[in-house]
Amino acid sequence: MPHLLTLDGLARRELVDLLDLAQRFADTPGDSGLLRGIAVCTLFFEPSTRTRMSFQLAAQRLGAHVLNFDVSTSSARKGETALDTMRNLEAMGVRGFVVRHQDDGAVAALAAVALPRTALLNAGDGRSAHPTQGLLDMLTLRQAKGADFSRLKVAIVGDVKHSRVARSDLHALRTLGTGEIRVCGPVSLLPDDGTLDGCRVTHDFDEALEDVDAVMMLRLQRERMEEGLIGSLDEYHADYGLTTTRLRRAAPDAIVMHPGPINRGVEITDEVADGPQSLILRQVANGVAVRMAALARLLG
Ligand code: CP
Repeated sequence: MPHLLTLDGLARRELVDLLDLAQRFADTPGDSGLLRGIAVCTLFFEPSTRTRMSFQLAAQRLGAHVLNFDVSTSSARKGETALDTMRNLEAMGVRGFVVRHQDDGAVAALAAVALPRTALLNAGDGRSAHPTQGLLDMLTLRQAKGADFSRLKVAIVGDVKHSRVARSDLHALRTLGTGEIRVCGPVSLLPDDGTLDGCRVTHDFDEALEDVDAVMMLRLQRERMEEGLIGSLDEYHADYGLTTTRLRRAAPDAIVMHPGPINRGVEITDEVADGPQSLILRQVANGVAVRMAALARLLG
C-alpha cells in the first residue's frame, strides 16, 4: 500500500489489519520512534481542526519531523501549484504528505506523480473520500459493538450527497459486512449515482432510526442552503435533527456518532451530542491512533 487515497477497494484483511494496529496504538499510550528521522508534511488546502491536529500529533508520537504547511503564508498564495509545492518539499526530503484538497481526485493526482519513496495520505478530497475518518469511525463502532458487523444496523443521516465522510464510511461498512446500512436525508441531499446501492434509503428519519445500533450523523453543509437544496435550518432540524426523543426509536444501547464539526441545534441537539450515547469525542481520540497506524503502515 504505497498511499492511502480511498477505502474503496481496500481488501477486508488490509482494513482489519489497520484497525488492529490502530487499536494497539490506542491501548499503548506514549511515543514510539518508528518514524524517527522521517519528515511528514500536513498540506491542507481546506480548513481542518480534527484531521490536521490528529495527524500532526500522530506523526509526532511516532517520532517524525512534522512540517505544518500553512497555505495562507505560503507561495501557494503567489500561484504556486499543489504539484510544485509537493515537488519542492520532496526535494527537501519530505517523505509523507497528508493532503486535504477541495477538488475530487486531487490527492490521487499528486500520488500518481510523486517520487517512489513518497507516501500520500488523503485527508479529504472534494466529496470523494476521507479514508482515515472512515477508519476511525469503524474503530469506534468495533470498540462499542464488537467485530461482527453482520449483526449491526447502522444509519447514516444528513447531507450524504456532498459528504466524503459518508462515502468512506459506506465503503468500509460494506467491506466489513454490515448487516443493514440505512441512509436517510432529504431528496436533494442524497446522491443518485450508485453510491447508495445496497443501502436501505429513506427520507423518513423516524423510520431510519427504528431499532438501529448506531446513528452516524453528518454535518449539514450550510452552504447548501445558499444553493437552495434545503429550506430553513429550523425545517431541517424538524425533519433531520437528532433529538433525545427521536433517539428513543433506536436500540436502547445505540451509539451516536458525528465526524465534526457539529452544527449544534441543527443536525443534533446538545443533549444528544453531549449525552451518554454519544461517542463523538471517542471518535476524535481514535483519530490519533488510526492516523498513527496509517503513517506507520505507509512510512514505517
Ligand atoms: N472530521 C473532520 O474531517 O474534521 P476536520 O474538518 O476538523 O478535520
